[in-house]
Amino acid sequence: MSDDDDRGGGGDGGDRSETVPLVVVDGDERFELDVERGRNLRRVLLDAGLSPYAPATRRLNCGGRGLCATCGVRVREGPPADHWHDRLADRFGYPRLSCQISVDRPMTVALVDKRVWGGRQSDGRGEGESPDTGR
Ligand code: FES
Repeated sequence: MSDDDDRGGGGDGGDRSETVPLVVVDGDERFELDVERGRNLRRVLLDAGLSPYAPATRRLNCGGRGLCATCGVRVREGPPADHWHDRLADRFGYPRLSCQISVDRPMTVALVDKRVWGGRQSDGRGEGESPDTGR
């Protein structure tokens, strides 16, 4: 499996500057990155050492193909969901697949605590609260 692809959903963010700001919230920490517009969110997170994976799935994942559902993040500000799994996750309040999201506009995402595989962990948002996708 490869970590090298840089795929993700497209989109038009309006502003055509070279980089866009990406804020990554990891627990109590907050990281601000300047990201080349259009890069794949999963790839950006991995390159920055901010893995979207749990320890067990860091090596055992689909490599960004949208198949394993292990790369989820909470999108607090960003593009609407356009991958089928991403749309369902967005609709039902589950983390969205970082491998299916392009950083094509200013975004804020939160990494999900995945110590309990398959369990829903609190990320500071209320249960049942729908993600803010900018829609
Ligand atoms: S890496 Fe497998 S679904 Fe995203």
